[in-house]
Amino acid sequence: MENLVKLAREGRLEQGLGLTFGTHRPNPVERVAYDIEELVRDYRVGRRADGSPYRFLIKTYGCQMNEHDTEVMAGLLLAMGYEQSDSDEFADFILFNTCAVRENAEAKVFGEIGRLRPLKAKNPELLLGLCGCMAQEQGVQKMVLEKFPWVDVVFGTHNIHRLPAILTAAKQSQETVMEVWEKAAETVEDIPKVRKDSVRAWVNIQYGCNKFCTYCIVPYTRGRERSREPEDVIKEVRELVAAGYKEITLLGQNVNDYGVDLGTITFAQLLRAVNDIEGIDRIRFTTSNPWNFTDDLIAAIAECEHVVEHIHLPVQSGNNEILRRMNRTHTREYYLQLVNKIRKAIPNVSLTTDIIVGFPGETEAAFQDTLSLVREVQFDNAFTFIYSPRENTPAAKFADEVTLEEKKDRLRRLNDVQYQISLARNQALKGRVVEVLVEGESKTNREVLTGRTRTNHLVLFPGDISLKGQHVDVEITHPQTFLLKGQCVYREEVVS
Ligand code: 5AD
Ligand code: SF4
Repeated sequence: MENLVKLAREGRLEQGLGLTFGTHRPNPVERVAYDIEELVRDYRVGRRADGSPYRFLIKTYGCQMNEHDTEVMAGLLLAMGYEQSDSDEFADFILFNTCAVRENAEAKVFGEIGRLRPLKAKNPELLLGLCGCMAQEQGVQKMVLEKFPWVDVVFGTHNIHRLPAILTAAKQSQETVMEVWEKAAETVEDIPKVRKDSVRAWVNIQYGCNKFCTYCIVPYTRGRERSREPEDVIKEVRELVAAGYKEITLLGQNVNDYGVDLGTITFAQLLRAVNDIEGIDRIRFTTSNPWNFTDDLIAAIAECEHVVEHIHLPVQSGNNEILRRMNRTHTREYYLQLVNKIRKAIPNVSLTTDIIVGFPGETEAAFQDTLSLVREVQFDNAFTFIYSPRENTPAAKFADEVTLEEKKDRLRRLNDVQYQISLARNQALKGRVVEVLVEGESKTNREVLTGRTRTNHLVLFPGDISLKGQHVDVEITHPQTFLLKGQCVYREEVVS
C-alpha cells in the first residue's frame, strides 16, 4: 500500500497531481471486478475479546454521491464481519465521509473528530477515519497529521474499494494510515453494497467532473469524468428492480455528459435503455448541467414513461458576467431558452436549481439579475448558498469586495423570493389529486406516511405503513412551502 504520510509531511504531496484539465478524452480508466473472495480471505475481522462483533458507524456529509458511497463502504465493512452501530459509544470504527464543497461542512467534521477523541480512552480498539472529498485536499491531510494525529485512517474518493486493506493496515499501525490516490486508477464493479432504503436506490452512472467551475472543488476531489459501462448500469438496475426497488436515481456530477468519454452511448440513450427494463417503476437522475442538455435528451425525458418530470438544473447566477467568471459555459439567455424548451416538451415538469450568492465581484445589480431570473423561471425549489472560497480553486484568488453581512442579506432576500414562489406553486396543487410513491412513516408521527410525487414534491398524509412502496392517489388539502399535506383517496396496487 502506498503510504503518503511521508510525502505530506515533507510538503511534497502535490494537489491535483495527475488531474487533466480540459474536455473529453477516451476513458483511460480500467474496469475491474471487485474480488470479494480476497476480502473474505484476507480481511475478515474476528470478534472482540468478549465475543461480541466489531461495530462501525459512518457519518455522512454532503451530496447523494456521498450517501451512496456510504452504502458501498457499509457493504464492504459488513463483508469484513463488522456490524452496524447507531451510537458512537458502541462503535469500534467511526468513519467520517466528508464533503468539501463549502467550508462550514469541513469545520463541523473537525469539531466532531475533536469531540470523539475521549472515546478512544474508553475503547482502546476504537479507530477513527476520514474519507470522502475532504480527504482529497492536501490542506486537510496536513491538518490531520499535525493537529488530529488520533485519526487512524484517511483515504480518498478513489480508494473506497481499498477500505478493507487500509483498515487492516491501520489496526497494525501506530501512525495515521493515509491512502489518497490523486486520480482514479480503475472503475470497480460488483462491490457489495448495503442500501439504506428499500423503496429508492441510487445507481452511479458516472464519476467525477470535467467542468471546472471556478468556485468548485469537485473536479479536484472527484477527478475527471468517468462513465460506467452501460451494461454494468443496466445489470445493476435490473437487479434492483428484481429486488423490489421502485425508484432508481441515476447519479453523476454531470449526468448529461454520460457516455461522452465512452463514445458509444449518450445519456438520452441510457435513459431509454433503463426505461425499457421490465418492471421498472420510476427513474430519476441528478445532477444535470445546462450545458450539453441536448434536444435529444429533452425528447427522451418527455417520451420515457418511467422517467419522472423533475429536472435539477443548477443555474448558479442570473448575471452573465458572474456566470462567465464562474466558468459556467452557459448564459442567462441560453438558460432561459433551455427552460422554455423543456417546459414546452414536458409541460408539467418541476424544475429545481442551485444558486450561489456573493460570488467575488457580484454587485447589487448582478444579484438583482439572479432575483429576476428566479422570478422568471419560477423554480419549484432552489438550494441557495453563500459563496465559500475553496483552497486551490481559481475563484479563491478573485478579489472579493462583498461583505459577509451583504452576502447574508442577499441570501435572505433570495430565499424570501424563492419561498414565495415555492408556496404559490404548491398552493396551485390544492384540491388536486397527485400520484405518490410511499416511502415510509413520518419521523415525527407514525400515523402519517411520507412519499413523493413524480415531480419530487414531498407529500404527507395519514395512512398505514403497509402502503410503503406502493403508489397511492392523494388529494392535496394543505399545501405548504416545502411540503404538501393531503388525504389518500384510493389505493392502487402496483404490479412489479
Ligand atoms: N461555495 C458555495 N457554494 C458552492 N457550491 C459548489 N461550490 C461552492 C462554493 N465554493 C454549490 C453549487 C453547487 C452545489 C452542489 O453547491 O451551487 O451546484
Ligand atoms: Fe462543480 Fe461545476 Fe462540476 Fe458541478 S459542474 S461539480 S459545480 S465543477
